Amino acid sequence: MQMHFILLGFIRMFNLFEGLIIQKSHQETERSPKIIGGVVSSKADWPWQVAIFTYQNDVMKPVFLCGGTLIQTDVILTAAHCLASPSVKPDQLLVVAGEYDRTIEEGTEQTRSVINITLHPIYVGNSPLLDGNDIAIVQLNESVLVTEHVKPIPRVTNDVAQVKASQRCFMTGWGVSDVASVGKSKQPLPTKLVVAEMTIISNRECNRRDQWDGIIVPTQLCATNKRTSACLGDSGGPLSCWIQGQYHLVGVISWGPKTCRGKPSVCTRVSAFKTWIEDTLATLHSPNGSQKQGHF
Ligand SMILES: *[C@@H]1O[C@H](CO)[C@@H](O)[C@H](O)[C@H]1NC(C)=O
Ligand SMILES: *[C@@H]1O[C@H](CO)[C@@H](O)[C@H](O)[C@H]1NC(C)=O
Ligand SMILES: *[C@@H]1O[C@H](CO)[C@@H](O)[C@H](O)[C@H]1NC(C)=O
Repeated sequence: MQMHFILLGFIRMFNLFEGLIIQKSHQETERSPKIIGGVVSSKADWPWQVAIFTYQNDVMKPVFLCGGTLIQTDVILTAAHCLASPSVKPDQLLVVAGEYDRTIEEGTEQTRSVINITLHPIYVGNSPLLDGNDIAIVQLNESVLVTEHVKPIPRVTNDVAQVKASQRCFMTGWGVSDVASVGKSKQPLPTKLVVAEMTIISNRECNRRDQWDGIIVPTQLCATNKRTSACLGDSGGPLSCWIQGQYHLVGVISWGPKTCRGKPSVCTRVSAFKTWIEDTLATLHSPNGSQKQGHF
């Protein structure tokens, strides 16, 4: 089998996935020449999106590593490959919530250290794309303060039927958004959080010969847009779907086509990990477990 996919967020220059970047709200948005056919998100639309930084190589200069999603005030969900290849320790990470423009201090950011990383136990570092367990839980050193710009996603989805019925799903991230720069060593990353509206397709459709040709497993989920003309995004970040009046976390962005065109983006299917997430949260928060209840 020829490998035409790449990890998203493994190395910064490979933070790619495809999608038509669209405007969620006409207010407060602006066009950026670096985002093909799209716009940056509105400032407080995705308050559960976090940015994960690492100081693996240079203690003084944390570098952007991946996206993530606040699922509780002190817990984020992200992609296992972000933290496992190469492997990072909790004290090499910083999590920033309330981030919007990465280049400036906006006064909305809240930075936290990491005290525990739990990779999915069946995650296999060598083949995260294929095993479908590209998911990890990261515990922060203390809760974030809930504000307009920082708050956990309202629900972590547990119902596949709801997801199928959902018409509006969005990927968000700070990944590469300029198709022209794909494959070049210095790809400009957008400074502001960008958003792409995605359509979830069935795994059967995603596994068609002209799509991912059978490699998608049930614990993964594919999202696409027929008129793909852009790529953006960061592994670990959310696929957020508007279901029955609130946003649900449906996917963790995992990988996508190398060329940023022509094939669906692949997420870890969050509903498949409901029990694992609940069990892990209970462990993390014991003996004070009563304080935390998942929103399942
Ligand atoms: C949590 O981490 C942040 C960022 O490193 C730090 O500023 C803060 O003091 C820490 N909080 C506690 C309770 O240690
Ligand atoms: C991290 O959390 C897991 C539960 O998911 C627990 O088993 C492990 O002991 C924790 N590690 C630390 C260093 O607290
Ligand atoms: C959490 O545990 C600490 C001591 O370990 C205790 O002082 C505190 O009251 C507990 N909080 C809750 C909400 O149970």
